[in-house]
Amino acid sequence: MRVGVDEFGNLIGSRPSELGSALLAGSHLDTVPQGGMFDGALGVVAAIECARVLHEGGRSLRHPFVAIAFAEEEGYTFGSGTLSSRSLLGEMPRDQFSELVDRSGRTYDEYLRARAHGLPQAHVPAQVRAYIELHAEQGPHLERMAKQVASVDQIVGSQRTVVTFEGRAAHAGTTPMDRRADALLGGAEFVLAVNEIATASNGRGVGTVGELHAYPGARNVIPGKTALSVEFRSQDDTWLTSARERADGAAGKIAGRRKLGVRVTPWTGSLVQPMDSGLQQAILAAMRLAGHDAVTLSSWAGHDAGILARYVPSGMIFVPSTGGISHAPEEHTPWPAVEAGTHVLLETILRLDATDGTGGTLPLAYAAR
Ligand code: HGY
Ligand code: MN
Ligand code: MN
Repeated sequence: MRVGVDEFGNLIGSRPSELGSALLAGSHLDTVPQGGMFDGALGVVAAIECARVLHEGGRSLRHPFVAIAFAEEEGYTFGSGTLSSRSLLGEMPRDQFSELVDRSGRTYDEYLRARAHGLPQAHVPAQVRAYIELHAEQGPHLERMAKQVASVDQIVGSQRTVVTFEGRAAHAGTTPMDRRADALLGGAEFVLAVNEIATASNGRGVGTVGELHAYPGARNVIPGKTALSVEFRSQDDTWLTSARERADGAAGKIAGRRKLGVRVTPWTGSLVQPMDSGLQQAILAAMRLAGHDAVTLSSWAGHDAGILARYVPSGMIFVPSTGGISHAPEEHTPWPAVEAGTHVLLETILRLDATDGTGGTLPLAYAAR
């Protein structure tokens, strides 16, 4: 394949062909801290494996085939998920690249320049027949159903913010208990409130505080400030709106009762994103051809496929996660399921190549060439 990196850090391998719209397959290469080796990387390696099998079999496709490894899907480096796929599609304005800063103070701009160093430049094609992403389920369902593969019908919606409680830093020894404005107490109470909002939904939604920072962060200083990441996810957009409103209310009540200041950054997120029905049918047909039951699951994880699906037909293939574990070193998918998923990915690519679908156009945000 002709390989290169684009200006948003995405690694691209292209197998040219004469037809216009391209078949894209891939996933992301970045991970969370202490993440596993299947989340993202599995879909990238499987796409490359499909290209290799086609090449070794001397099989050319009617459509150009592009394997892609998106950068910065997890959002850990710059606090913004699906960053490189959204940048590619103009959903993250370029003038914000210098405002996104990682923990070392490096901007997204500087990160992208370093990442492109030494690699040829490449571009994702605008005309796309379909995008397919093979990914670990990252939950317990496929293993529980004793199935090796599934087609995905929709990707979860989400709402995210950062809540900051402000009290007064003071000496941990000399400050009497009734004279404290301890911001961490507000944060701790809010963590429980987020948990309560999600738990009370009886499975309609989930809520997590994954990051909590107390400042200045010394054992003998009463925290004057606490900042918490908050996220809700649901297959029901209405529940997401109500969870957001309840979290805002809880933050205000807690701050009032504890005489703390509180700030909630503007909520960001995405609506529930259905996968293309035509692609779902192609994936299910490929599954049946490969001898699997036609199983469909919804995704409670976010993916780059959820971004591309706004513009071009996109589909996902799931394989099981052992013990339903992901975003942890124990993350694992049994090898027979890896093979089954990659086989279904190849079969789906062949089916899509044999038919002429409408496809779509990606609003690429590349600088003028
Ligand atoms: O957070 C997610 O759902 C994905 O792993 N980025
Ligand atoms: Mn992932
Ligand atoms: Mn992930």
